[in-house]
Amino acid sequence: MTVRVLVIGGGQNAEHDVSLASASAVAAALRMSDHEVRCVTIDRDGIWRADGTPPGDTAVTSLTQALPLLAWAEVVFPAVHGALGEDGALAALCALAGVRVVGSELRAGAIGMDKWATKLVADAVGLRTAKGRLVAASDIGDVEFDGPVVVKPVSAGSSYGVSLVREEGELLAALRTAARFDSRILVEEVVRGREIDVAVLREAGGIRWAAPPLEIHATGLFDTATKYDGSARFEVPAALDAAETSALKRAAIAVFDALGCAGVARMDFFLTDEGPVLNEVNTMPGLTAASQVPRMFAAAGVEYGELVARMVRAALP
Ligand SMILES: Nc1ncnc2c1ncn2[C@@H]1O[C@H](COP(=O)(O)OP(=O)(O)O)[C@@H](O)[C@H]1O
Ligand SMILES: [Mg+2]
Repeated sequence: MTVRVLVIGGGQNAEHDVSLASASAVAAALRMSDHEVRCVTIDRDGIWRADGTPPGDTAVTSLTQALPLLAWAEVVFPAVHGALGEDGALAALCALAGVRVVGSELRAGAIGMDKWATKLVADAVGLRTAKGRLVAASDIGDVEFDGPVVVKPVSAGSSYGVSLVREEGELLAALRTAARFDSRILVEEVVRGREIDVAVLREAGGIRWAAPPLEIHATGLFDTATKYDGSARFEVPAALDAAETSALKRAAIAVFDALGCAGVARMDFFLTDEGPVLNEVNTMPGLTAASQVPRMFAAAGVEYGELVARMVRAALP
């Protein structure tokens, strides 16, 4: 039976281009199997562009013109990373419209997008995170330097606004950079450990399982340039012993469940001498075939087209 899927890409944040790549890969893969696919792109300025129809000239008029596609769809696949997408905004629109959605609902998306709230949840289920202070963007002049720190926006992605501060003279510029992306900023201790990502899929029927973890080999911070210039190397499965693998997978599923995630989510850890430290959660992670999550599931024998088809199936009744 053919399923009608509306794939949404783009979005109004710094990860716009990454979301376009995810959405077009998802749409192409779904078209190869039993799906009828239509696409909508949200421009950087919020204009919704539906396949083939000229958009309205404001966000609201263009959304009005895209609504018939929402009515047509059996399920929406919101491949939009970051704010006004992954943060639950699109899941909320679908919920209000009574349309099924692939991936996490509003609550998990909103909490997962907030690195401070995620720390509180992780702490509540016994997982370590980097010690950090929350700073309002209006107070960045008052932050004291007390050793090397990582400064980052509470909500962003693709490493936008993230800096490693080694000495006092770098602190204010790093805070200003983070403040361009969010009104709340995290100042975190620098965690020393291997960077390991774990992907969890919630299948139709509710079983959750974690794919073989992936290690990111990058020199220094895994920053925006390194993420997309090909200089970082992904190793999957990561070279881990059985105890490390099971500790990481258990931690990832614990966070997935604590947030109430659905579809796939990627939990990013530092593996330290004292075990896993959660860095962040991505409830709509990068979804091109070359992105981390599809590579991890491929290592488990679930090829790209099968993965996105399973994500759609999991959203259906
Ligand atoms: N507390 C930290 N200690 C060490 N490295 C960090 C820390 N926080 C972030 N990083 C580095 O910065 C990168 C980007 O930070 P992250 O919080 O994952 O932001 P984003 O959501 O933009 O991916 C991480 O992949 C990691 O390399
Ligand atoms: Mg990250």
